[in-house]
Amino acid sequence: MMYKIQNRRYIGSKSKLIGFIAKVLNKESINFNTFADLFAGTGVVSEYFLSQEKKVYINDNLFSNYVFYKAWLSNGKFNQSKISKWLNYYNQSTDYIRNNYFSDIFSGTYFSYYNSKFIGSVREHLETIKNTLTEREYYIILSSLLYSADKIANTVGHYESFLASKPKETKIKLFPLEIKEYKRSAIITCADANAIANAINTDLTYIDPPYNSRQYINFYHILENIAEWKKMSVSGKTLKFPRNNKKSDYSKSKALNSLIDLLSKLKTKYILLSYNNTYKANSEASNNKIEFEELERMLSKFGRLKIYDYDYKFFNSGKTFFDGHKEFLFVCKPQ
Ligand SMILES: C[S@@+](CC[C@H](N)C(=O)[O-])C[C@H]1O[C@@H](n2cnc3c(N)ncnc32)[C@H](O)[C@@H]1O
Repeated sequence: MMYKIQNRRYIGSKSKLIGFIAKVLNKESINFNTFADLFAGTGVVSEYFLSQEKKVYINDNLFSNYVFYKAWLSNGKFNQSKISKWLNYYNQSTDYIRNNYFSDIFSGTYFSYYNSKFIGSVREHLETIKNTLTEREYYIILSSLLYSADKIANTVGHYESFLASKPKETKIKLFPLEIKEYKRSAIITCADANAIANAINTDLTYIDPPYNSRQYINFYHILENIAEWKKMSVSGKTLKFPRNNKKSDYSKSKALNSLIDLLSKLKTKYILLSYNNTYKANSEASNNKIEFEELERMLSKFGRLKIYDYDYKFFNSGKTFFDGHKEFLFVCKPQ
């Protein structure tokens, strides 16, 4: 087995919506050479445009996502047989396995004792061989570890809680990444979108921020913890490290102001913005921070606006908000 970039459980991933995005751009006859994905998450949208030979700027404020972009979407050198050698070593040997930060904290929660010991031991060992690897090889091995850990985690797909049942004993295994070749590397950053917006000049900017108060760092703190490997102390039932600096303004009451600020900084010919009402408003945390109508009003002030809806079956354009529709694309040409 080999991992593909989309083989992750990630809330809000657009991996099933790439066709929809491409259709809208085609329908709007938007021709572009440069593309910026400022809230890139899994990176699947950027991957699509990189494979279409666009010049791609990719950004997310989580370091774990940055690790993935460096592995999948850069053009740094790597030697596949060297990577396979290390993955086989980690899968087969027990020489390097010992109790560690990760097993001390997470054993019996998101992972079994063996698997948490494996994850922490590989992570620890990877630092000891770092100077024998290229930057890309390092990120590829780390990505394999993160994808494998995520695959066997005792969760519903994110780390806001772990299941009441005992973690699976199925032994974790590392798999190689099925890396494609692109004409050029993506330009990769790990920053607050608002902080870098005016440094990027593009034809098309894609905006897909979180829309409710559920912080992505809370969903994916375990992956971030493994990726950063700062071995920080954790607290609470869900064992999160201190992470205030990673919390997004888009999940706070200042969401609308943040978006207005972002739009005012962009240097772009077109804006493409994803909006969804996937979460039903059955809890305060799930309520969208920015209302559909507010967004429509605000974006129409910025330029010529078209809204497309998608209900997984048919594809349609118009400005009416229908119940049950989940995904929307706002296309705006700033004026
Ligand atoms: C809806 S997800 C994007 C999903 C992505 N389009 C995909 O297909 O996987 C929103 C992303 O925005 C990131 N994010 C939240 N606030 C941010 C900020 N201020 N700057 C940059 N990224 C941010 C989150 O970490 C998360 O990955």
